[in-house]
Amino acid sequence: MVEVRLRVNGAIESLDVEPRVSLLDALREHLGLTGTKKGCDQGACGACTVLADGERINSCLALAVQYADREITTVEGIATGGRPHPLQTAFIANDGFQCGYCTSGQLCSAIGMLAEHGAGAPSAVTEHLSTTGIELTDAEIRERMSGNLCRCGAYNGIVGAIRDVAD
Ligand code: FES
Repeated sequence: MVEVRLRVNGAIESLDVEPRVSLLDALREHLGLTGTKKGCDQGACGACTVLADGERINSCLALAVQYADREITTVEGIATGGRPHPLQTAFIANDGFQCGYCTSGQLCSAIGMLAEHGAGAPSAVTEHLSTTGIELTDAEIRERMSGNLCRCGAYNGIVGAIRDVAD
């Protein structure tokens, strides 16, 4: 066991884990943050996407010990001030999900993608970003979100939601 200090959604958490424990399992099983989902557990589906210092990562491929003192944001941390993140509102408005299993990963990935594309500094991802003026075609959104799979096939709604926030 090793002691790891994780900074998650603005709180510092200390936990004792085996060095081989993934960030995903640390979040879900040690910190009870079950909003982040485990799909394939091998980097192929994107269900486990979280933000590390504003960059989207597959938490199933990351060791918790590698992310000590990095700023981790999970789906539980994207709403601020008692209001949902604009992407959450847009996902609802656009029916950007059916079963919802992939949604937390889709949301975190989209926030990271928009930040990569200039929607805001990575450090600002947990704030309600002003994302006006970002020009992304639907094809570009699909390409940039291609690491996040949706078995229900709600891609049109997902793309529509991201476009609403990016426009
Ligand atoms: Fe991590 Fe599928 S659970 S990519």
